[in-house]
Amino acid sequence: MKVTVVGAGAVGASCAEYIAIKDFASEVVLVDIKENFAEGKAMDLMQCASLNGFDTKIVGSTNDYSKTAGSDIAVITSGIPRKPGMTREELIGINAGIVRSVAENLIKHSPNVILIVVSNPMDTMTYLVHKATNHPKHKIIGMGGALDSARFKYRLSEALGCPTSDVDGMVIAAHSDTGMLPLTRLAVRNGVPVSNFLSTERLEQVAQDTKVGGATLTGMLGTSAWYAPGAAVSALVQAIACDQKKMFPCSLMLNGEYGQSDICLGVPAILGSNGVEKIVEIELNDAEKAKFNESADAVRVVNGDLASVLA
Ligand code: 2OP
Repeated sequence: MKVTVVGAGAVGASCAEYIAIKDFASEVVLVDIKENFAEGKAMDLMQCASLNGFDTKIVGSTNDYSKTAGSDIAVITSGIPRKPGMTREELIGINAGIVRSVAENLIKHSPNVILIVVSNPMDTMTYLVHKATNHPKHKIIGMGGALDSARFKYRLSEALGCPTSDVDGMVIAAHSDTGMLPLTRLAVRNGVPVSNFLSTERLEQVAQDTKVGGATLTGMLGTSAWYAPGAAVSALVQAIACDQKKMFPCSLMLNGEYGQSDICLGVPAILGSNGVEKIVEIELNDAEKAKFNESADAVRVVNGDLASVLA
């Protein structure tokens, strides 16, 4: 199992590290445009192998995609991260051109690759990869929901005063500060609805803190977060690499599901060796449907800015 991670910045390197530590891939290729940067990160990570007990080989490459040939899975983290006060949507001008050329290069060298898009604005970048390439729909996955759901579980466990292993929950719709939809109605603590333990006001606060999870960290760190994004990507990679059939909310091209078409938005899906094996449709109530559609409308506006990159 060969995995490529493009972008050796904090998110890409942390993703490569988690993949290596879990030891399910034979090789991870780290690519970056900065001379020797990916090679340096790869060497540093390889020097952890004997300490952390993994056999995954990590190699670096300065923009040489021939080294990525034959990849089963590739992760796109390229582009600039947001700075405090910026929205993910403001990155589109710079990141769209980069993501398009990275996706094209990856597919050229690995025609069967399953692509995981992380670069922001993620839902729009995932849509761009669909539109700019003829790659099969089930092989293009946007990473947002897995991260947002992990942040949701963190906030729920904080509110409940319990470990995260006690809680389960999911965030769907857009990976944006306003477009996320944390499904508080369906969240549970060991099978018991969290509304049994938390007031409506507290749950609204949990949802709000979840939605601005990335922005909160960007304000604290001065740049975008990397540990949880890296861990979320590695969980998706592992689900595919190990054919786990696990369900994660991912940004996927919709064709009528959830009443939406020609848009990438976060919906639950089963991931296995074929990539997206099934989109899971769940019944949303009227308020949730309205929020999902509002989120779609906002993503469509951002997608409109792709016209020049797709021309
Ligand atoms: C975040 O929310 C990287 O968009 C990512 O931290």
